[in-house]
Amino acid sequence: MTTRNCKKQDCKDETGNCRILGSDGLPVQCVGPWVEDKYFFLEKYLNASCEARRKFADKNNAVFIDLFAGPGKCIVKNEKREIDSGGIRAFKRDEASFNEYFYFDISSVNAKALEKRINSKSNCNFRCGDSNGLINELVETLSQKPYRYHFAFIDPFGPDGLKFETLRNLAKLNRMDILLHFPIGSIKRNLGTWLRSKSTILDNFLGTDLWRKGIDGLSSDKVFKLLIDVFTEQLKSIGYPEKGLRMASSDSNIYTGLPTVSVKNTKDVDLYVLILASKHQLAQKIWNSIIKIDPKGQKELF
Ligand SMILES: C[S@@+](CC[C@H](N)C(=O)[O-])C[C@H]1O[C@@H](n2cnc3c(N)ncnc32)[C@H](O)[C@@H]1O
Repeated sequence: MTTRNCKKQDCKDETGNCRILGSDGLPVQCVGPWVEDKYFFLEKYLNASCEARRKFADKNNAVFIDLFAGPGKCIVKNEKREIDSGGIRAFKRDEASFNEYFYFDISSVNAKALEKRINSKSNCNFRCGDSNGLINELVETLSQKPYRYHFAFIDPFGPDGLKFETLRNLAKLNRMDILLHFPIGSIKRNLGTWLRSKSTILDNFLGTDLWRKGIDGLSSDKVFKLLIDVFTEQLKSIGYPEKGLRMASSDSNIYTGLPTVSVKNTKDVDLYVLILASKHQLAQKIWNSIIKIDPKGQKELF
């Protein structure tokens, strides 16, 4: 038997999975403890939006989409604790549960592992492939039932995984809420390189090169604001209205910008932020209220 010691060694294989299998003999991804913050906000949002979703779920019309699904389990490295992925957590929900699930992963090992772990033939669809390519077929399939509610969890390893065109495609669906991992840490680390070339990973991720204007020499905080502002404009251009992206401050009625929640590592470095894109003001209102309290129960994160 191999003893797991992923704390110091680089245990990842070429797919990003741990070289050592999980306790059920299937692949797992090694993660830092901060990954639980991501799941905290995902689950909190799914709980808080339960009543709004129930109208659709009761009529068999609630759809969950996971474009970067992973194998279904992670190992919190230092603790060697196995935890469920976001997609499995969504599947296990009892309250206003989704009626149909679409899970994509570029690795066939992951798609197969997730399928085994979920072990449900009836309402789950598992595909191996690049989500940026599979999206056309998915949107075509889902467009055939226009009265549905869709929730997409989009959780790539970094900006190289996702092209903005994929969001443009998803946005063609009615009632399409997106919880997105925006990989700010990795973007900031590579910004210098991308500034020196054209048609980069960042141009594809943001779907525009407008970020280049005025970014030179900006402080880290200002880079963040500029990128989020560019991304907000891009979301607006594909049909996400201001009211579904922003919150008016209750005191001053002034828009505060796209509400994000930051996921940091144990050294307090920002790894990524989570963004909710919705076409509906109610969804953003729910998101705004849940991100005010962090996983430790403290108020006002942003
Ligand atoms: C951060 S992990 C996903 C973690 C998972 N969402 C969770 O909650 O544990 C990113 C996953 O995306 C997959 N991936 C990377 N590029 C992809 C692509 N272009 N299309 C689909 N899946 C991709 C990787 O194989 C990996 O499993």
